[in-house]
Amino acid sequence: MQTPLQTPLPTPLSDMRCQVVSNQECGNQLKLLRLRLLDGQFQCLPGQFVMLDLPESQFYFRRPFSVLDTPDPQTLEIYYKQVGVGTALMWDFQPGQIINCLGPLGKGFTPPTQPESALYIGGGIGIAPPYFLAKSQQEKGHCFYGVRNAGEIGLQNALEAQFRKNLHIATDNGSAGFHGNVCQLLEQHTALVSQAREAYVCGPTRMMAATATLLKSINPIMRVEVSLEERMPCGTGACTGCVTPRADRYLPAKVCLEGPVFEASLIDWQGGPPRPISAFCEEASCPQ
Ligand SMILES: Cc1cc2nc3c(=O)[nH]c(=O)nc-3n(C[C@H](O)[C@H](O)[C@H](O)COP(=O)(O)OP(=O)(O)OC[C@H]3O[C@@H](n4cnc5c(N)ncnc54)[C@H](O)[C@@H]3O)c2cc1C
Ligand code: FES
Repeated sequence: MQTPLQTPLPTPLSDMRCQVVSNQECGNQLKLLRLRLLDGQFQCLPGQFVMLDLPESQFYFRRPFSVLDTPDPQTLEIYYKQVGVGTALMWDFQPGQIINCLGPLGKGFTPPTQPESALYIGGGIGIAPPYFLAKSQQEKGHCFYGVRNAGEIGLQNALEAQFRKNLHIATDNGSAGFHGNVCQLLEQHTALVSQAREAYVCGPTRMMAATATLLKSINPIMRVEVSLEERMPCGTGACTGCVTPRADRYLPAKVCLEGPVFEASLIDWQGGPPRPISAFCEEASCPQ
């Protein structure tokens, strides 16, 4: 067994001026945004995120995105899906355009103690943080990636290069890989789940809750970490807009500060997220 790679220390939080290098379509409503820092360097832990400033005055809040990769200390990659007004604006980012990006923010994943058996599990765009963690390790582990259909497998080449035969894909409609969801796919691989010491999960909340429950039922001593994607108005702990109920205490967690990565057992999955401040903002039609 090889020792895990040393993860570089994250650079201090800063508001970085970045230039768009490319903004390439890589699937249905999916793009890979590559940014180059104009000053300084950027390094972060897999699982940390940045807040992108959208260059139009109608957007009061920045938008949070996980870091997909940092191929070198001047380059930052984000894998995103167009879902609303902010990401529609990002869709039109052109090479050469300058944008501001605050980061690194939040807490990253705990590196695996047994990387060769670690499970990296993603639902849709949630594959980005587990992929980044896997890439930082010397040994491959296994990737379980669930999407709705073949058109949503946005990072296929990168995932194949990283995991080779250890890449397991599930599509809800059966158009690629296993026909079913990622939990049903994991149920076909109980030996891998039983051997793994760690699993890293990111995706829609219900998918993470179901996956964490399934993994623990097969392998109760496994450490399962999840990366939550609550809506985040500020990303820095100032607004309480991202709180989620915790299983171990009355006070909810601010996901942007205490997370977005949590050990799955710390989250009260049944409690459901309390209404975030952003929901009140929408009702009051305050600026987004
Ligand atoms: C820590 C973190 C990391 C993230 N990483 C990524 C990433 O790597 N790639 C990526 O594509 N997205 C990621 N997201 C989600 C991303 O921030 C939202 O999709 C984005 O802010 C939506 O902005 P919008 O203006 O386009 O959507 P809006 O117009 O504000 O909303 C459009 C629709 O998307 C829903 N929505 C908005 N934000 C979220 C959210 N956070 N979770 C679920 N639904 C949401 C809204 O409820 C609404 O239905 C991340 C979120 C967090 C908190
Ligand atoms: S997003 Fe404002 S406190 Fe977390």
